[in-house]
Amino acid sequence: MDAMTNLLTRNSPRELSTPIPSKDEMLEIYQAALRAPDHAWLRPSRFIEVTGAGLDKLSKIFTEFAVNELQDVTPLQMEKYKAAPYRAPMIIILVSQITEHPKVPKVEQMLSTATAAENILLALHAKNYAGIWRTGKFSFNQKIAEYFNLTTDHEVIGYLYVGTPSGTNKKIPQLDIDKFVTHWKE
Ligand SMILES: Cc1cc2nc3c(=O)[nH]c(=O)nc-3n(C[C@H](O)[C@H](O)[C@H](O)COP(=O)(O)O)c2cc1C
Repeated sequence: MDAMTNLLTRNSPRELSTPIPSKDEMLEIYQAALRAPDHAWLRPSRFIEVTGAGLDKLSKIFTEFAVNELQDVTPLQMEKYKAAPYRAPMIIILVSQITEHPKVPKVEQMLSTATAAENILLALHAKNYAGIWRTGKFSFNQKIAEYFNLTTDHEVIGYLYVGTPSGTNKKIPQLDIDKFVTHWKE
């Protein structure tokens, strides 16, 4: 797939199933991730790759976190939290490890991880896999980092649900560029 076709056709499929990328494919995908723009080359991005029994571990953590840290969770919502990790055969937890720096604030370091996440989505798409980016209650919350046994300089910024696209294809919208772009020529 050429680069522009990849960019123009990436999408979040309705369902993800096996197969997942091989170890060698993931090595290349992480190299692509780490080519993301990164002010002062602080290398803030960390990825926790969750598969197999790791999904059970994540499900247990989500459930414990919801019981201990969230208010007014209904039984139905609790079931959803418990089941969430099983919506894909692989989950990549997106983490920024923040370095104190006089010119590079925390937000820039998290943005670098966000661009790394998009590189992962594009690299997956190039290899005929796909990902769905999700956040929700288990992101941007210092407490969740503790549940992952991460030190307080880590920020969990989201989750990429990864697999092979299945289900019906989604129609990609054609957007009117004039609504999004302003030109200053003088
Ligand atoms: C930072 C971020 C957080 C997101 N969180 C969620 C989420 O929690 N749940 C969800 O259904 N979609 C979430 N999305 C949106 C989906 O990943 C996806 O982009 C959206 O459904 C549009 O589909 P498309 O990627 O095929 O255009 C998030 C996107 C971003 C960039």
